[in-house]
Amino acid sequence: MKKSQETQEDSLQQESRHQLHQIVISKILRSHRFFQNLVLYSFLIGFGFGLGFILNVHIRNVSFNPQLFRLSSLSPSSFSTPPLQPQPEIVVPLNDTVVATNDDDHEVGQKGHYLMMPENVVHNMTEEELLLRASKIQEKTLKMTKKAAFMFLTRGKLPLAKLWERFFKGHEGLFSIYIHTSDPFYFDDHTPETSPFYRRRIPSKEVGWGMVSMVAAERRLLANALLDAGNHRFVLLSESDIPLFNFSTIYSYLINSQHSYVDVYDLPGPAGRGRYNRRMSPVISRTNWRKGSQWFEIDREVALAVVSDTTYFPVFEKYCLWNCYADEHYLSTFVHAMFPGKNANRSLTWTDWSRRGPHPRKYTRRSVTGEFLRRVRNREQGCVYNGKKSEKCYLFARKFDGSTLDKLLYFAHSVMGF
Ligand SMILES: *[C@@H]1O[C@H](CO)[C@@H](O)[C@H](O)[C@H]1NC(C)=O
Ligand SMILES: *[C@@H]1O[C@H](CO)[C@@H](O)[C@H](O)[C@H]1NC(C)=O
Ligand SMILES: *[C@@H]1O[C@H](CO)[C@@H](O)[C@H](O)[C@H]1NC(C)=O
Ligand SMILES: *[C@@H]1O[C@H](CO)[C@@H](O)[C@H](O)[C@H]1NC(C)=O
Repeated sequence: MKKSQETQEDSLQQESRHQLHQIVISKILRSHRFFQNLVLYSFLIGFGFGLGFILNVHIRNVSFNPQLFRLSSLSPSSFSTPPLQPQPEIVVPLNDTVVATNDDDHEVGQKGHYLMMPENVVHNMTEEELLLRASKIQEKTLKMTKKAAFMFLTRGKLPLAKLWERFFKGHEGLFSIYIHTSDPFYFDDHTPETSPFYRRRIPSKEVGWGMVSMVAAERRLLANALLDAGNHRFVLLSESDIPLFNFSTIYSYLINSQHSYVDVYDLPGPAGRGRYNRRMSPVISRTNWRKGSQWFEIDREVALAVVSDTTYFPVFEKYCLWNCYADEHYLSTFVHAMFPGKNANRSLTWTDWSRRGPHPRKYTRRSVTGEFLRRVRNREQGCVYNGKKSEKCYLFARKFDGSTLDKLLYFAHSVMGF
């Protein structure tokens, strides 16, 4: 679609230039005041080309910097952020492959100083250093407790933090939390020290809705979470997500699963295959182009492959820009190509798409009932889990706004078991 638009613009431009030339020539020939007109038209043509040149340069810049055209401005005072694409000249000396050991000396975390201490997610690594470090860490967690990493990709504060705090309470050591938010008004220090969200914000960059910068943020979250060798499963959540079961149920579902959960499907039409760009070939062919919800749950092997990906992601950065929605295609296409056998091809996050449109239904206080939550928790038709039929299809649900908090806290106890 984008391609045809471009070629259309090109031919329009050429056409109008051509017309301009013709008019100019005929007028000049007919004119008595030849020199006067010559001067005038030269000036006009020069101006036209100048304008064309400026526009051209501008369009080029835009295609390499998707952030310029953020669809949703995160804050009016947002300042320019460092480029998403790390500078190639920054080379990190990587003498050691950092291996997280599970030796009895409990020194994981000190072995390579880049292995993060659980209580500190702040670092000074560049994007490239981070991804490189993360991709070098190998898991040897035979004796180590396996943790689930809950990665929150948010626009700002977490309005449902109280619900999550209750969900996590008493399960310390089995999970880690990461928050990516580019909101300049997000102050960690407003979070009480007792909260599991305290100081869990990773170094973040600006994110544009539906843009490649969203995928870059997901990779950043994964890379930060991979630095903790104890993390075994990786869940992407937003600030409007809620857990549907208690921690032990969700944890055991994740840790014991034989699959990763990335929504993958092939959709004919403009909202699916129509977003494919021929220039993505040969890395991505039209038949391998996939779509799916961005809210994933993956294991360590897939997470490692995603942060190490230098094949697919650059193609998305280059050609998945307009009407493409990289976040709905990158991971689905990547996992479909790389891990078809170990993916469940479905998301664990329930979303209500019953209302047509680009955004799913948002739930407010009034629509949250016990009956509704029970319906989302237990699906009559069921889903396949480790080869067996299970009533549980979804572990999380969205989108719930801040007004639902007190009701959710109430039903957390009576329906969701925490
Ligand atoms: C890498 O090795 C070089 C020499 O081989 C050494 O000078 C440098 O300090 C090492 N860097 C790190 C990060 O260990
Ligand atoms: C990051 O760098 C700044 C200035 O170079 C330093 O003050 C700060 O302590 C560093 N932070 C970390 C986590 O290394
Ligand atoms: C979590 O929920 C399950 C099933 O609803 C229940 O059997 C289990 O006891 C609960 N766990 C805790 C720690 O409350
Ligand atoms: C997911 O889809 C792939 C094809 O993309 C297929 O090979 C695989 O068996 C599917 N997984 C499950 C669990 O059905």
